[in-house]
Amino acid sequence: MEATPASAEARHQILISAVAAAVMAPSSHNTQPWRFRIVGGVLEVLADPRRHLTVIDAERRQLVQSCGCALFNARVAVRAMGYADQVTVFPDPQQPDLLATLQLGKQIITDDGDRALMHALPLRRTNRRPFLPRPVALADSDAMIAAAAGDGVWIVRLAPDQKHQVGKLVDRADRLQYRDPAFRIELSSWLTAAGSRRRDGIPFVEKEYGSAMPFSVMRALRSPGLGDSFGRLEEELVRGSPVVMVLGTDGDAPWDWLAAGQALQGLLLDATGLGLAAAFLNQALELPDLRAEVARSVGRAGQPQMILRLGYPEEPIHRAAPRRSLDDVLLIVE
Ligand SMILES: Cc1cc2nc3c(=O)[nH]c(=O)nc-3n(C[C@H](O)[C@H](O)[C@H](O)COP(=O)(O)O)c2cc1C
Repeated sequence: MEATPASAEARHQILISAVAAAVMAPSSHNTQPWRFRIVGGVLEVLADPRRHLTVIDAERRQLVQSCGCALFNARVAVRAMGYADQVTVFPDPQQPDLLATLQLGKQIITDDGDRALMHALPLRRTNRRPFLPRPVALADSDAMIAAAAGDGVWIVRLAPDQKHQVGKLVDRADRLQYRDPAFRIELSSWLTAAGSRRRDGIPFVEKEYGSAMPFSVMRALRSPGLGDSFGRLEEELVRGSPVVMVLGTDGDAPWDWLAAGQALQGLLLDATGLGLAAAFLNQALELPDLRAEVARSVGRAGQPQMILRLGYPEEPIHRAAPRRSLDDVLLIVE
């Protein structure tokens, strides 16, 4: 039986709901560097250059990756609401901030995979705490990798010696970055204090790694030596995590970053569905020399885009990091 075509108003509401799903995506420092426009039945996903982290992300790699995560969520939501997702990436070379357009295709019956992704979408959290020592089955990580990789994106689950090397590089990255006052100023401007009304940035408590290091006071960010203890701690977290993965791409252009963001979000939602938590260790990719060393450790051609650790959470994170409202990010062009 053919589905009854939905009215233009119903289709418009679906695109608005897709934006509500998109903004639940992760983004570096929770900058939420995206904007959306709905113009005549087309949802445009745009980068917001005002939210660019110029110190750690000079090339805008993480900014575009974050928007890729948001695009992935919007696509899942559209399919979960019974429509094929028609996407065009970088539709206009004259508008580099217009990263993608999304339109409703033909009506479909939502499959179990999309239902599972949609279910996981509001439950996903970055969890920077230590994970339980419980192993993650190889079959589970293989299935996640198979589902998320493709389209020029690859994911490698690191072997113990690679994990050790990458842990050392994360430690070195922390030590180097915290010595740079510009890095500390940028980070502190995106850390928000408990009780803050800000709807972006990383709530302070989120940066507390269990009881090992209460990353407690902004004041501490004035100390260039903070990276030494922080690096040691993060290296330990890498060592103690059942799984460390590197997600990379064959190329290193904006469309590769957008594809990497989409693959990342697929991986994170699958992980959430399996009861796993994930945290990022991208500092080692924010310094070009160390990024090259990560690539060598991974031992495959291409560019590393993301370092992740995954495991079963010792302590689940219940409260979601804040998000800006739809009014702040969505423009509807009548
Ligand atoms: C491209 C990208 C890079 C990120 N890099 C880091 C990182 O290096 N360290 C970290 O602790 N979190 C990192 N995050 C996680 C964000 O801080 C997190 O998504 C944000 O604070 C919102 O919280 P949520 O993921 O729980 O919704 C990254 C997220 C994205 C999308």
